[in-house]
Amino acid sequence: MTLATLRPLQLQDAGDVLAAFSSAPDMARQGDVRDEASAAAYTRWASGVDSATRAFGIVVVDHVVGCVGISIDRVNLVGWVWYWMHAEHRGKGLTSRATTTVANWALGEGGLERLELGHRANNPASGRVALVAGFTWEGVERGKFLIDGERLDVRTYGRLHDDPVPTCETLAADTSTWPPLIGEHS
Ligand SMILES: CC(C)(COP(=O)(O)OP(=O)(O)OC[C@H]1O[C@@H](n2cnc3c(N)ncnc32)[C@H](O)[C@@H]1OP(=O)(O)O)[C@@H](O)C(=O)NCCC(=O)NCCS
Repeated sequence: MTLATLRPLQLQDAGDVLAAFSSAPDMARQGDVRDEASAAAYTRWASGVDSATRAFGIVVVDHVVGCVGISIDRVNLVGWVWYWMHAEHRGKGLTSRATTTVANWALGEGGLERLELGHRANNPASGRVALVAGFTWEGVERGKFLIDGERLDVRTYGRLHDDPVPTCETLAADTSTWPPLIGEHS
């Protein structure tokens, strides 16, 4: 099993973010990351410096290879979850374990009461990550995206704070040092 840890994304991770976005064409829809400047801007946004988003980097041998983020709706105590993984590190269960870790924390000490996410129907790996991380399939937004001239359905999922905690193994993470997603530190 690949040794990996999880920690809040930091501004100095921008180079690793650029490497991940350059690793596969399917990363293009995850954000506008093309070069050093756009990677720095994305990392700043994802780190929550000037946004209601908080991302956590999956670290393998001192490099961030993947990311799980939450965009926070403080009024409703809801978080929109997203994730990506460098192509060379996919298929090892890392995103599933990281999403489980982040979701368990976000719905506990993190202070949120509902998490939600969605993926294109032609991206089944993303759906597996959601199910393994304890999300429940909630429905389909038909024809939501227009991609290459084709309208694609989006499958949506949710996890509530009192839903069962999934059995998926978590990643090593010092969550006691993570500031809550709501309140004075958010
Ligand atoms: C989706 C993504 C994050 C998955 O990352 P990953 O680290 O490979 O995920 P994991 O290894 O934790 O789990 C992948 C799961 O998908 C399954 N899977 C992979 N390809 C699949 C396919 N074509 N059909 C069905 N399941 C598939 C794997 O078997 C695994 O499921 P399992 O745990 O039941 O065996 C990665 O492919 C990615 O970054 N894609 C581009 C960005 C993206 O689409 N993000 C999600 C946006 S909604």
